[in-house]
Amino acid sequence: MTRMEQQAQPKPFWLDGNFAPVFEEQTAFDLKVTGNIPPELNGRYFRNGANPPSGKSHDWFLACGMIHGVELKHGKAIWYRNRYVQTALLEEDTPSPESRSKLENSIANTHIIGHAGKIFALAELSLPIEMSSELETVGPYRFDGHLNGNMTAHPRICPITGELLFFGYGLRPPFLTYYRASADGQLVQQEQIAVKGATMMHDFNITENYVIFMDLPMVWDFGERESGGLGVKFDPDYGARLGIMPRTGNNKDVIWFDIEPCYVYHTMNAYEAGDEIVLEGCRMVGYMAEGMTKPPLPKLHRWRMNLVTGSVREEQIDDLGVDFPRVPDHLVGQAHRYGYTAEFGQDAPTVDAFHKYDMHSGNKSSHYLKDGRTGSEAVFVPAANASNEDDGYLMSFVFDPAENKSELVIFDASNMANEPVARIHLPARVPAGFHGSWIASSGE
Ligand SMILES: [Fe+2]
Repeated sequence: MTRMEQQAQPKPFWLDGNFAPVFEEQTAFDLKVTGNIPPELNGRYFRNGANPPSGKSHDWFLACGMIHGVELKHGKAIWYRNRYVQTALLEEDTPSPESRSKLENSIANTHIIGHAGKIFALAELSLPIEMSSELETVGPYRFDGHLNGNMTAHPRICPITGELLFFGYGLRPPFLTYYRASADGQLVQQEQIAVKGATMMHDFNITENYVIFMDLPMVWDFGERESGGLGVKFDPDYGARLGIMPRTGNNKDVIWFDIEPCYVYHTMNAYEAGDEIVLEGCRMVGYMAEGMTKPPLPKLHRWRMNLVTGSVREEQIDDLGVDFPRVPDHLVGQAHRYGYTAEFGQDAPTVDAFHKYDMHSGNKSSHYLKDGRTGSEAVFVPAANASNEDDGYLMSFVFDPAENKSELVIFDASNMANEPVARIHLPARVPAGFHGSWIASSGE
């Protein structure tokens, strides 16, 4: 391809509009607010996303991570910061498979969580990268030397025990390893789990007594990976299974349920209901058949796996294209009524609406963004003295094209259609990114 032909190519979605990276790390204090920040929101909202330093990337998923954060305290927006996660990979435009194969060389672009007083920037196939509460990079984290493999970007924190439950998957054997860390951050269990090949295992779930592995047919294609692509392809011949294991169990305890081949990046939640384990997630089919430029829309589904009969039932909950499903952190692994999602556009995962699903009825209520504004994943934070499950707030970064800047928008989850309760005006644009967390302050 000549240079002119290259220039004539339309930009892929992940480099266009508000998916495009920002290049400046900024710090701003005492941010302007429209509306009122609920005074009980004391803590920090952090969100991760891919942000190629060169402005170029072969894929939405493969560039280095930048974290955007806002601290709230006593009804005020104290600061905004955006910082790269500082790793050796920042020197490379699109990190090579060779440099990504070193555990400590994380692109660290997918999620950011808090556990046992530490903050971790996460990307699958790498070690967690510890961050400070003001977004300085501390470095790769190995749980006192006990974590010698990679960690998913989607661990789960049990709201009852405080444990951090997670897995790591390998491109070579062992293909799957399960880990359990105690509430105080000690790695107390690791088990190798037998699966037949290397698949892209993105998410994971827990219930009160079990964990759920998703062995789905997005298999690694090393030829494509060597050429700089994401390196996976959808191969229905691999089969598709969900594996349920007691939290303190091991490989011989896993019960596998075959399901219709599909891919699920993100699950909403899982819980126990009598003899059944219920899993809810955003299911897609044929993914990668058309390439990353036009992925199919994920749709909310539910699987019910019966531990006694071994049967599994699958149902579609809605036919809208949604992803970034979340439930309140305190209901992870527990029966819940509501789940929150972001609606994806037809041509790109552009978020112009948020939906609250009543998972009992399948009905939804919605918050539509106006005037070309676009959001990203929304995180639920409960209100003080909440009496209903949806008494609380959803937080998301929302981009305003008229200003070419973003806001941290807080809206009322119990009245989705209402205007936001607060819009915190940021000094910069926050690109559409991936996942984040509200990390409440302790005792301040
Ligand atoms: Fe994810």
